[in-house]
Amino acid sequence: MNILVVGSGGREHAIAWKLERSRRNPSVFCAPGNAGTARVPRCVNIGARTNEEVVSAALEREVDLVIVGPEEPLVTGLADDLRAEAVPCLGPTRASAALEGSKIAAKEFMSRHGIPTATYEVAHAPQEAMDAVDRLELPVVLKADGLAAGKGVVVCRDRDIARETVHSFMVERSLGQAGRSMVIEQCLEGYEVTILAFTDGDTVCELPPSQDHKPIGEGNTGPNTGGMGVICPHPRFDSMLQERFRAEILEPTRAGIRADGLDYRGVLYFGLMVTADGPHLLEYNVRLGDPEAQAVLPLIDTDLAELALATATGRLSEIPTPGVNLASCVVVAASGGYPGAYEVGYDIRGVGDCESPVFMAGARHEEEKLVTAGGRVLSVCGMGDTAREARDAAYRDMERLSFTGMYYRSDIGASTPR
Ligand code: AMP
Ligand code: GLY
Repeated sequence: MNILVVGSGGREHAIAWKLERSRRNPSVFCAPGNAGTARVPRCVNIGARTNEEVVSAALEREVDLVIVGPEEPLVTGLADDLRAEAVPCLGPTRASAALEGSKIAAKEFMSRHGIPTATYEVAHAPQEAMDAVDRLELPVVLKADGLAAGKGVVVCRDRDIARETVHSFMVERSLGQAGRSMVIEQCLEGYEVTILAFTDGDTVCELPPSQDHKPIGEGNTGPNTGGMGVICPHPRFDSMLQERFRAEILEPTRAGIRADGLDYRGVLYFGLMVTADGPHLLEYNVRLGDPEAQAVLPLIDTDLAELALATATGRLSEIPTPGVNLASCVVVAASGGYPGAYEVGYDIRGVGDCESPVFMAGARHEEEKLVTAGGRVLSVCGMGDTAREARDAAYRDMERLSFTGMYYRSDIGASTPR
């Protein structure tokens, strides 16, 4: 079996690592991959970057399945292009990927299908957005419609800052095309939960809930990042909340996909805020989370090659629900200065001494050496019978790793019950 994985981050390294453990012994190609995927024994990095190049590579290598890591190729129609060539793809069509690619489309889907979410207004012009800011109670959350590489959401506790943000998005066009239209919504207070689910549009296969840690600083302070750590399962999302999530969000989403006639064969990421009233949906993503995938994939006892192929070909009902007995804790090591300016090119030491899986993100090979090449450099996935053991395993390995300027949060999962 040949599988092509699209992407170049820690998430794609975790996908390749999990495929390496499949009973089907797949040959894996990663486009373009990174220093981590290059080290996975049956995985080869290939040069394809554009959607067109990925389709050509899939045909040339006669792949049985393409697994798409990031959202951008999906939002621009990679799944459609692959399906036109009869190549199974884990990842939804362009029309379905609007659930992530357009904040307006996502909110309209949620309200059409009665899914609990924050009250919102849509604005297509600066004055409309300013009026909405004045009508909603503070704090408000401003969301640029369209892909904005994580920079399109701003929580505003002050009306002047909200107005400045509207000006920056809609008048100055600081995000380019994203931000021509906006969602202005009420801020929900609570705690966040990520749930990843595979679906072929009919059957849904839910993975265990996890908790991302977005701010750079300890105690969740400082600017947001792509994610500095994850624990799985989520320590506060109990079975009662899980039941409510299934009844109030998961099932209406599945029914909504069918009612809207969407072709959805891929991963759905539910970004939840649990408030005093229960789970609310903040966002959909149309792919595995990064770094959530690094915490969730190592834990599940399911064969990823089989799960992904069954999802892509509409046979998900044949796959047993994933079981999980362990806990995991992913800690991300970043370059000093990230998410602001940082330097790259420093030697990474100690990977061979780690006991837990180490997933590479911003790292590359320079001759025989592994060197830093990005903001988030790598992550370690500690696992254990309990959250505490998982956390201890991750931090033991963090101490074995080093590079100049290495920074990591020492409080990932610190609030988990001991
Ligand atoms: P989104 O891309 O919509 O998930 O937004 C990114 C982040 O912004 C989320 O993970 C939350 O931390 C925050 N956020 C988005 N919408 C809201 C909201 N309505 N209330 C509070 N926080 C929010
Ligand atoms: N960890 C957040 C995301 O993947 O969007």
